[in-house]
Amino acid sequence: MEVIRRISRISACSRALKERGCAIGFVPTMGCLHEGHLSLIRQVKKDCDAVVISIFVNPTQFAPEGEDYKRYPRDIDKDCLLAFNAGVDFIFAPLTGEVYPDGYQTSINVEKLSFPLCGISRPGHFRGVATIVAKLFNIISPDIAYFGAKDAQQALIVKRMVADLNMEVEIKVLPTVRTADGLAVSSRNSYLTKEERKSAVVLYKSLLKARHLINSGERNSKQILKIMEEIVRKEPRVKIDYISLVDGETLRERKEISGKILIALAVWIGNTRLIDNISIEV
Ligand code: PAJ
Repeated sequence: MEVIRRISRISACSRALKERGCAIGFVPTMGCLHEGHLSLIRQVKKDCDAVVISIFVNPTQFAPEGEDYKRYPRDIDKDCLLAFNAGVDFIFAPLTGEVYPDGYQTSINVEKLSFPLCGISRPGHFRGVATIVAKLFNIISPDIAYFGAKDAQQALIVKRMVADLNMEVEIKVLPTVRTADGLAVSSRNSYLTKEERKSAVVLYKSLLKARHLINSGERNSKQILKIMEEIVRKEPRVKIDYISLVDGETLRERKEISGKILIALAVWIGNTRLIDNISIEV
């Protein structure tokens, strides 16, 4: 395994792999690797000849103030060990100045899909995500790139960008990895106190209830959202950012349940913002 800081080096390695006819699978991450990331890496091992991951806490997807860019967990030594054990071939871990040199001023905005859900409380977030993902695709030229359904809006935005800008990369989206009690694995879970961690199960609990209601024939979104809200409100530590029931492709709000539906929520538990979702097809 090689850890690479320079764009010129990772691009050269990628070109060399391609010349040898190797299919490159790529997992972009912000590091602090966990089971969610590892599930993506394991799939690359199955599909591709070479595994490239990136570790970069991307400043442009965090608001300049009030978000957790500075305190976002970083542990490159542990990440290297986990990546090595998972069979990663290249870690691209650039410094910020390498990615965003002085004078940098171009960005990518996937307009409509970036607006709802997390886009409301995190304006500019998905512009930062789309821009860094596009840059990483240009630098690494992967054949397949892997994303988690945990960040469903992000995955949809990346797919849209790839289609809209004729990028030659296949996007695979893999299921959310959860702990035994249902909480979606996330680097941000490490911020939670013991009590907050217990309260956090309410996200998945409310999603399961929504799925149960739909499977039992409920088709009225308002009714489902009301019951989800009641479940979340029972946890005094948890503050709702949003609970939404939207079309699984356009992310437009749905009054009636039919077709592909995304049920998504974001909450604050203390100073920690957590998101979760499930997709359902009726
Ligand atoms: P990060 O939060 O590190 O996540 C990297 C990838 O792992 C994303 O595709 C995310 O959806 C996936 N992932 C995270 N938790 C998961 C879980 N519990 N189960 C399955 N997959 C999971 O998402 C980002 O980084 C950044 O926005 C990035 C795409 C790297 C751009 O900076």
